[in-house]
Amino acid sequence: MKKALLFVSLLTLTAMTTTAQVYLDPKASIEERIKDALSRMTTHEKIQLLHAQSKFTSAGVPRLGIRQLNMDDGPHGVREELEWNSWSPAKWTNDCIVAFPSLTCLASTWNRDLSSAYGNAVSEEFAFRGKDIMLGPGVNIQRTPMNGRAFEYMGEDPYLAGEMVVPYIKAAQANGIACCLKHFVLNDQEIDRFAVNVNVSERALNEIYLAPFKKAVEQAHVYTIMGSYNMWKGIHCCHNDELINGILKKNWDWDGALISDWGGTTNTMEAALGGLDIEMGTYTDGKLKESEFDYEDYYLAKPFEKLIEEGKIPMSVLDEKASRVLRVIFRTAMNPNKVIGSQCSEAHYDACRQIGEEGIVLLKNEKNILPLDASKYQKILVVGENATRSLTQGGGSSELKTLRDISPLEALQTTYGNKIDYAQGYYSGRAIYDKVDEIDPEKQAALKAEALEKAKSADLIIFVGGLNKNHRQDCENGDRESYDLSFGQNELIAELAKIQKNTIVVMFGGNPYAMPWLNQVQALTHCWYLGSEAGTALVNVLSGKVCPSGKLPVTFAAKYEDYPYVKFGAESYPGLNKQVYYKEELFVGYRHFSSNNVKPLFPFGFGLSYTTFAYGKPTVEKVGNAVNISVTITNTGKMAGKEVAQVYATLPKTQAARPVKELKAFAKTRLLQPGESETLRMSVPMSELAVYEEQKHGWDILGGNYTFNVGANVNDIRGKASINIAN
Ligand code: GLC
Repeated sequence: MKKALLFVSLLTLTAMTTTAQVYLDPKASIEERIKDALSRMTTHEKIQLLHAQSKFTSAGVPRLGIRQLNMDDGPHGVREELEWNSWSPAKWTNDCIVAFPSLTCLASTWNRDLSSAYGNAVSEEFAFRGKDIMLGPGVNIQRTPMNGRAFEYMGEDPYLAGEMVVPYIKAAQANGIACCLKHFVLNDQEIDRFAVNVNVSERALNEIYLAPFKKAVEQAHVYTIMGSYNMWKGIHCCHNDELINGILKKNWDWDGALISDWGGTTNTMEAALGGLDIEMGTYTDGKLKESEFDYEDYYLAKPFEKLIEEGKIPMSVLDEKASRVLRVIFRTAMNPNKVIGSQCSEAHYDACRQIGEEGIVLLKNEKNILPLDASKYQKILVVGENATRSLTQGGGSSELKTLRDISPLEALQTTYGNKIDYAQGYYSGRAIYDKVDEIDPEKQAALKAEALEKAKSADLIIFVGGLNKNHRQDCENGDRESYDLSFGQNELIAELAKIQKNTIVVMFGGNPYAMPWLNQVQALTHCWYLGSEAGTALVNVLSGKVCPSGKLPVTFAAKYEDYPYVKFGAESYPGLNKQVYYKEELFVGYRHFSSNNVKPLFPFGFGLSYTTFAYGKPTVEKVGNAVNISVTITNTGKMAGKEVAQVYATLPKTQAARPVKELKAFAKTRLLQPGESETLRMSVPMSELAVYEEQKHGWDILGGNYTFNVGANVNDIRGKASINIAN
């Protein structure tokens, strides 16, 4: 009898378990939850997961209580709320957020801990705004200083970009917010971004352009990736079977969901079979006007459902996509550990400011005019539109609406009081996408004349200029048209410096630029974009409250023609007939300058300090499957500061040309007091030293002699250590 009872109760229990909603059980594994949810869903419900239901959301399964996915831009903070189904602001009054520094600024800190702090803080703001996926960060490679979106990315070197993006993603996803790493792949210019087909060697594709994405997949397990608009091998990257199914999902064993860029999906069969999981933003022409289509007309909506129902595409294809989307939902929207987050907290502003302070790069400091000793000056004239202009608005999808947006002028006035006078000096107008304000030459001349007049009675000039977030400056959907600064800045700076030799230049911008006035000014800092605490971070560095430690993540060439792709003509940038050829191959940025003895204005990894550092003799040893490098750094100056030791490997000679130096490790000291030392220990996994062999379509470790060049930038090597490695 007892056995019978036991058997019956087991049966009942089993029955209950099978009807128990495992997918809702936070204690169940995500894979169990996916399997259970899928078993309960209709075909149509599975299809609904795969495409937008509004501008920035994709559907869940309301009947089963499976949450929709709320997405939003961007890499530097949560975009203002837009209307459900248009690009117009929803005009909320509670959606102001912290604007964090641009990702190129974060890369300039070379500080992995700050990257983690960034990912934690920015994702707390996404969580508080009820978002599940943040559409960022971006790790496209800065192969050209013309790229309008370079400010959203992490420089010209794949190793630096990869190392700096991993902590950001890990910290954000630990809060239950999915990152959406973008734009996968080869979206390295804005000109013709929707249609250009990128031709690149397999070796450069793997060693340069895929590398930061691969590191984010393997080390940060990024939950979603955004396909790019452009094409590779003639197929749009949002649904490129070889790229998405072959490289990303199969070779890299990635279990996330591939999201299209907005409007990046072009047909159903490729979308169905080319690895796309969530189709967003289709049919919006230029994203400035709404389509007559609705969301059911999306390529992965009714057209795809019809192919499934007719048996032309197996259900397994739909289930695989739906499983990936459910995985994102259970990792975020229905993750019991997803944080509530916070918005505009002082902790977030502190993180914002610290990242800015460590991202500012001191490029010139003649006669140590910096840090600023205000007691030496009676009248400090601040000149330049970027001293007051908001650089958090504009720029395209990374635009932000802030409560706090401290300008350089505001902070200078707070710190130096009525010593500060101001003249705008130039103006740039507004330029959103293709609406560029005409510049009135008379107005421009009047502003310049006013500044030059005021300069006559100043004993220090601080020029604050550079690029801005206008179209064809640092802005999505267009590239710069010149390597020169715009709006007459070069001439203005030169004339100001003629009047007053004590001239300090503070530049903002996401890209390098020519500096014909460089020899005439005494100091120069490059600040990228600093976000909500811009003025505070800047003045903390200018005043010496913080010792600058930023290092360039890009090469500043003396002239545009020195960039490696230029000699190959228009087909290498911006392309001809929608075809662009990356003819410089591996020789992007400093890889070219160092290998061909082209002297840059400021080299990759360069950045001055208010103190000085000595490097001990580096040591290198192979331990297991890694090469360990250590170097002792000593502060030999009079001020506490941080140093970034960089390690550039010279690999054994190969048949195919290789760059003479490649960044393979870096470490930043803690704040070292004068006289203090710290031994930095860096480990380079052998996989980082592998080279891509096109014949075997795979990686190889070269046998032979490896030299590890340790220094303060790619051209300032303070010590070397070599080692022989058998392959
Ligand atoms: C844009 C951008 C992408 C952004 C998306 C949504 O076109 O390319 O980075 O996240 O659309 O605004």
